[in-house]
Amino acid sequence: MTLDELLTPADLRAALEADARTGLTATPKWLPPKYFYDDRGSRLFEEITRLPEYYPTRTEHAILVEHAEEIASVADAEALLELGSGSSEKTRMLLDAMARGGRLSAYVPVDVSAGALNDAMAGLRRDYPDLVLHGAVADFDHHLDQLPAPGRRLVALLGGTLGNYPPGQRQTFLSSLAAAMRPGEAFLLGVDLVKDADRLVAAYDDSAGVTAEFNRNVIAVLNRELDGDLDPDDFEHVALWDTQNEWIEMRLRARRPIVAQLAALDLKVTFDAGEEIRTEISAKFRRSLLEPELAAAGLHPERWWSDPAGDFALVLARR
Ligand code: SAH
Ligand code: AVI
Repeated sequence: MTLDELLTPADLRAALEADARTGLTATPKWLPPKYFYDDRGSRLFEEITRLPEYYPTRTEHAILVEHAEEIASVADAEALLELGSGSSEKTRMLLDAMARGGRLSAYVPVDVSAGALNDAMAGLRRDYPDLVLHGAVADFDHHLDQLPAPGRRLVALLGGTLGNYPPGQRQTFLSSLAAAMRPGEAFLLGVDLVKDADRLVAAYDDSAGVTAEFNRNVIAVLNRELDGDLDPDDFEHVALWDTQNEWIEMRLRARRPIVAQLAALDLKVTFDAGEEIRTEISAKFRRSLLEPELAAAGLHPERWWSDPAGDFALVLARR
């Protein structure tokens, strides 16, 4: 078992410093979603995946149960590299299918969250003692061309994570990914599909308040990493469906006027009552738009698998 550290805690903190300085002094305020995933944030995300309202994880799981064998066969890969692997739970179905096909030489989980990656790798080492594990703590905004390639790869990005990029950054990400892949390698992409707005909003504003805690966790990350004095309870969780852009937007809305300090940045941040920080978008996709977008980036769609209700899809594209 090997673990590469392409992203150190100091790198991640430096990136947060730069993003917080830019995003929290902009109008409107924003923060990138990758800072949600400290140990507590990663645990809260796992809790989200089990909520009754949050259908994406269980739907993608069901598609994998049904089609993992065929996916492994079409992918025709020797190694599985997974971007934003988190707990690697659903991945086990792909690993099993690839192993049954006699093709699996290694699994390369890649995540910005060292805690989630370590936990996932410990579990995999226990349950797959013969599998070569080569993880990387890395940021897929920066390190795609430095990731391990222990054989011809199937590169997976599951869970709908592509939707967390705004469209311009999504194109940049897809083109960089294509440039980092070798011709013939396969890309397996899990995407959430456009559907009824009420179901979408409920998935991001659950009745138990777990998504609200996940969203507010980024305030705790700012306080800890940047020596801040913000109170998470001063912020209300907001989840909206943007009909025009076809994305969910998560925001944190100040419940009152706030004057806070981020001492590590020597920065005063002020909020009017009702002022918001955009913390995440989660775009939902249509096949007719996504396939040409992938092809334009040099990732040519070959197969599409969906659940019977058409809630979620897995696309396999070839570099
Ligand atoms: N693939 C899993 C987890 C999805 S949650 C699933 O389908 O359930 C998104 C994951 O991507 C988290 O584990 C988070 O830590 C990781 N992540 C977010 N931004 C990242 C980035 N820029 N680079 C690497 N990992 C990132
Ligand atoms: C990781 N990502 C795809 C999740 C999503 O659905 O956009 C993150 C999340 N945010 C709120 N709930 C889940």
